[in-house]
Amino acid sequence: MAEPLKVGLAGLGTVGTAVVHLIERGRDKIVARCGRPIEVVAISARSRSKKRDIDLKKYRWFGDPVALAGDASIDVLVELMGGAGDPAKRAVETALAAGKPVVTANKALLARHGQKLAALAERHKVALNFEASVAGGIPIVKTLREGLSGDRFNRIYGILNGTCNYILTHMEQDRLAFDACLRNAQALGYAEADPSFDVEGHDTAQKLSILASLAFGTRLDPGAIYVEGISSITLADLDAAAELGYRVKLLGVAVKTDAGIEQRVHPTMVPRESAIAQVMGVTNAVTIDAEGLAPITLVGPGAGGMATASAVVADLADIAAGVCAPPFGRPSARMVATRKAPMQHHEGGYYIRLLARDRPGTAATIARRLAQQNISLESIVQRHSAGPDGTVPDGGTGRSGGSVPVIMITYATSEDAVRKALVAVRRDRVISGRPQVIRIEKN
Ligand SMILES: NC(=O)c1ccc[n+]([C@@H]2O[C@H](COP(=O)([O-])OP(=O)(O)OC[C@H]3O[C@@H](n4cnc5c(N)ncnc54)[C@H](OP(=O)(O)O)[C@@H]3O)[C@@H](O)[C@H]2O)c1
Repeated sequence: MAEPLKVGLAGLGTVGTAVVHLIERGRDKIVARCGRPIEVVAISARSRSKKRDIDLKKYRWFGDPVALAGDASIDVLVELMGGAGDPAKRAVETALAAGKPVVTANKALLARHGQKLAALAERHKVALNFEASVAGGIPIVKTLREGLSGDRFNRIYGILNGTCNYILTHMEQDRLAFDACLRNAQALGYAEADPSFDVEGHDTAQKLSILASLAFGTRLDPGAIYVEGISSITLADLDAAAELGYRVKLLGVAVKTDAGIEQRVHPTMVPRESAIAQVMGVTNAVTIDAEGLAPITLVGPGAGGMATASAVVADLADIAAGVCAPPFGRPSARMVATRKAPMQHHEGGYYIRLLARDRPGTAATIARRLAQQNISLESIVQRHSAGPDGTVPDGGTGRSGGSVPVIMITYATSEDAVRKALVAVRRDRVISGRPQVIRIEKN
């Protein structure tokens, strides 16, 4: 039998441990597919004395993952430590510079340094594979890089953060407010103690920058993405969405426009019958919209040790079989600069929820301000008096002299027009609180 592919594994946490088990369990299948076995020969983690679900004695131990990356005993580095900085960055650079391919699940590292790392991998003619970095077990990187490499993409969008999708699902199904659902997500281990990176959309933005680069050949730059999270979403919004035929999801969207590639992350109303609207709980999904092709939606587990490990092992199997594609599907020098998405130019339908002061002339004032910006309404619903989160606390039996929720759906208009109209309405003092605005993404 051919020589095994000798793996150095840096990081023995949730994913690293699952990778060790999967390689051991899948040995025969791997040999059948790749013509050679894959063997973990050396490992590194922070603590050698930590109790682990694997037998450390079987592997050479490295206290320093960078030393592991450069060691002559390994053919390939698998980086599963996480973090955009060192030691992950230096370990990956060291392996690539030594002519060793790298597999990583580290979206933070790729989003920040992917451009330079791809160039380094190209220079040394080795693979840099990162299937597990976006949407865990869904093979979206390979689909974009190889499966659809001849297609022209118009748009790619997805549910890329399981924590946010779990919270939105839980709010809708159990009729609980955002804070309560976040606490439950933390208790179940779906959300970090500091959840802001997930719920404010930054995790989705890192993954979107990787997907946009694969689909559109843009240089990686998560700072160029417009980002808005889900913490302001209320039950009133989810109820209104349901009534109007939509569901609210946190989407990462990269779309080709006349002004360039618009990249944005924000709560989005999607048609309730669409494939992406059916994706509930911690599950992830990505929809690809390419020319001449009906939209393709891939749905699956976005995280978890085994799901993520399966993507890591698939990347290793490619390396064992001698496959070496350019990391982002094209030479890194040909990737184009990204501009910050000019959100003012974004065009689409909008959901707007206002708390209108219940007094004469309010409706006329709001209508005038919208008309001044050429905003036409597809629908407008006026609710009964509202509680503080926009819901009707008493079943809504009538006006109370307070504020009345007004929900409007616009026809396609620009972000700039919506923002200007709402600034004017606030200045007119005919609404209380901040208006809620959610963009609509049609099929
Ligand atoms: N968990 C998922 O479902 C998932 C899904 C997709 C992608 N990912 C990505 O996969 C990567 C690993 O995630 P994970 O959940 O497995 O993380 P984790 O459970 O926190 O494990 C991290 C591992 O890295 C080791 N490590 C951390 N800093 C180190 C250092 N300075 N030197 C040596 N070792 C160090 C830790 O050592 P100790 O064990 O000694 O502490 C631990 O074994 C991350 O990039 C993450 O974003 C994870």
